[in-house]
Amino acid sequence: MVAGSEEHVPVLLAEAIEALDIKADGTYFDGTFGRGGHSRAILAGLKQQGRLIALDKDPAAVATGQQLAAEDVRFSIGQGSFADLDRMAKDWRVDGLDGILLDLGVSSPQLDNSRRGFSFRADGPLDMRMDPTHGVSAAQWLADASEQEIARVLREYGEERQARRIARKIVTSRRQQAISTTRQLAGLIQSVLGRRQDKKHPATKSFQAIRIHINNELAELATGLEAAIRHLRPQGRLAVISFHSLEDRLVKRTLRESARPGPVSRKLPAAQAARAVLRLVGKAQRSSATETARNPRARSAVLRVAERLGQ
Ligand SMILES: C[S@@+](CC[C@H](N)C(=O)[O-])C[C@H]1O[C@@H](n2cnc3c(N)ncnc32)[C@H](O)[C@@H]1O
Repeated sequence: MVAGSEEHVPVLLAEAIEALDIKADGTYFDGTFGRGGHSRAILAGLKQQGRLIALDKDPAAVATGQQLAAEDVRFSIGQGSFADLDRMAKDWRVDGLDGILLDLGVSSPQLDNSRRGFSFRADGPLDMRMDPTHGVSAAQWLADASEQEIARVLREYGEERQARRIARKIVTSRRQQAISTTRQLAGLIQSVLGRRQDKKHPATKSFQAIRIHINNELAELATGLEAAIRHLRPQGRLAVISFHSLEDRLVKRTLRESARPGPVSRKLPAAQAARAVLRLVGKAQRSSATETARNPRARSAVLRVAERLGQ
């Protein structure tokens, strides 16, 4: 497998669109365009006055978005992180959003294209950057990072119990030969952990950890969520789909905290206590058995929804 498929089957599509409760003349933001499955469904709910702006860090995703923008004047796309929503909103002269969607993680074209280096299933250069034109590749990071730093990343972002043993192996191996391909790294991890009884590849957690670190995913999510909440108009909806427990924990905590009034100071009258800014909408939703049978990547997806309070 080299180039891989360009298709991405959107996850929790009907649920996310229902959650956004689309106003036909509203302004919407898709912070993770991918191949535009969710964006197209949002556009289908908008009239001529409606507007959808989108971002993606990946130039290949943005190229697909630009084709859509050429066909549909209601749609615009830029390249960048949703953590930069403040700057993008200024550039686009957007004054408040009626709905925001973040469908986190990687797309199928990113995973399936072995040249992107996200997957241990096919051999390719160990890159893992969502934007390959910026930052440091996974191979470069593994060449430079200390053993302690590698162990920390594997433990914190992969919840890998054998983080120290894997880190030690990486550091001893790289003295003999640079670790520059996905297969090399996957083989090295397997040599430490052995084969697993379940179907999961032993490198699953470490690949996830390195990807999260290389793309600064959790810090950008934290910044992006705060910005999203600030940019929502009253009654505007925020829908976030996450794919692993670290992401989901951060989403859950941030939405819950914004849905609780601030701490009441004894010096202030109760009426002046900081008000909650969000209302949680329903419980966390997961993909149905039908969806996961059709699309195994939907298995770990969790959708959380909140609505901005106020007049
Ligand atoms: C799961 S896919 C989205 C799929 C999309 N909803 C669709 O239906 O085609 C995630 C996308 O988000 C992008 N991405 C991940 N983190 C990002 C960030 N912080 N800012 C912007 N894009 C990001 C990835 O490059 C990838 O294209």
